[in-house]
Order: sequence, then structure tokens, then C-alpha cells
Amino acid sequence: MQGSAMTSDQRVLGVVATGAGGVEKLRTGLVEPAIAQGWQVGVTLTPTAATWLDDLGEVALLEKVTGLPVRSAPRLPREQSPHPPASCYVVAPASANTVAKLALGIADNQALTQLCEAIGTRSLPVVMFPRINAAHARQPAWESHLSTLREAGVWLVGGPDVWPLYEPREAPPGRELPWAAVLETAERAVATDATS
Ligand SMILES: Cc1cc2nc3c(=O)[nH]c(=O)nc-3n(C[C@H](O)[C@H](O)[C@H](O)COP(=O)(O)O)c2cc1C
Repeated sequence: MQGSAMTSDQRVLGVVATGAGGVEKLRTGLVEPAIAQGWQVGVTLTPTAATWLDDLGEVALLEKVTGLPVRSAPRLPREQSPHPPASCYVVAPASANTVAKLALGIADNQALTQLCEAIGTRSLPVVMFPRINAAHARQPAWESHLSTLREAGVWLVGGPDVWPLYEPREAPPGRELPWAAVLETAERAVATDATS
């Protein structure tokens, strides 16, 4: 791992990614731009995302650019957390599965464990981009999951301008995730948090 040295007053972005389309661009779309904007970044992946990114060689590259281990498995009780405390969490892309579990408080993997605690902390901003299709949005519990997360203060990135919904397998190929909107929302979230 190389990565740039961290200064004590540096903002820390906890980046969480899940097994959803576009996650393969996590490094170039989100992590490297965040580092360029002055964030220290610690990446945590769901087990599915870790498998996918490891297969692409991206886990090693993420560790190299962040200078921190990529987390996906829980630490041993005797171990310290390998990441510095986050100033803000970003969940992108968030699968429908992870959104639903988070709304229900299910913390059965490392990524959800960190996010459930972050949401409960209240003073720690959490920004989330649900990477869903029209069928996910029609799942009967979906709107209630989003309302729960909104009421808990989660900053949701989405809507027809940012992420129009298509039926499964009908989206135009190669569309980019709204990485810039996600990072811009994180900047706004920390700025709002600092003034409130
Ligand atoms: C190739 C592929 C692409 C997928 N893309 C999405 C997606 O964009 N959004 C989504 O909600 N689920 C998607 N899924 C399904 C999730 O990977 C699946 O629900 C998984 O259990 C999510 O686990 P996680 O939330 O722990 O990462 C995809 C699955 C595969 C195999």
C-alpha cells in the first residue's frame, strides 16, 4: 500500500460499495476524485462487491491509492480498526439489498455494521446512491425503506435527473454512475453538518 500520508486534520471519507452495476469504476469514478479533493479515503466492501473487485484486481489498486486496507471481513476482537474514523460515509453504488437491510438495521456484514452505527450516531453524515432499476423501486417495501433512511438523516442521491429508472436489462449500455453528484453531496453534507 502506498497512498498519500494523512495529516491529523484531514477529512476522512468512508466509502462503502456493494454488489451493484458500475462498482467496477469505484476507484476511478469516486475514490481517486475524492483523494484529489483532499479526502483521506477508507474503502469497505460488501462480500459480493469484494469478490467482484478482487476478481478485477481492483482491491489491490484501491489499497494502493488509499494507503489503507480495503475492509470486507470483520476484524478480530483483539485487532484495532484499520481505518481512521470517518467524517462522512458514502454508499455508492448501494444495491437494493443493502438499502433494505440498512433501513431495517441489519448489520450482518462489515459494510452494514459500519453504516448502521454511522446512521445511529446521527452527527455523522451518510450519503447513499441506490443503484436500482424500476423493478427494485416497485418492490412493496422500497418506499418505506427510503422514508426510514431519509428520516434518519441519510442524504439520498437519485431522482429522474440523476438516475432515471429503466426496466431490468433495458437501460442503455455503458451508462456511468453519478459519481460527481455523489461526491458533491458528500461535500454539502459535511459543510451542513459543520454549520448545524
Ligand atoms: C452482474 C450483476 C449486477 C447486479 N447489479 C445490481 C444493481 O445494479 N442493483 C442491485 O440492487 N442489485 C444488483 N445485483 C444483485 C446484487 O448483487 C445482489 O442482490 C446481492 O445480494 C447484493 O449484495 P450486497 O448488497 O451485499 O452487495 C446484481 C447482480 C449481478 C450478478
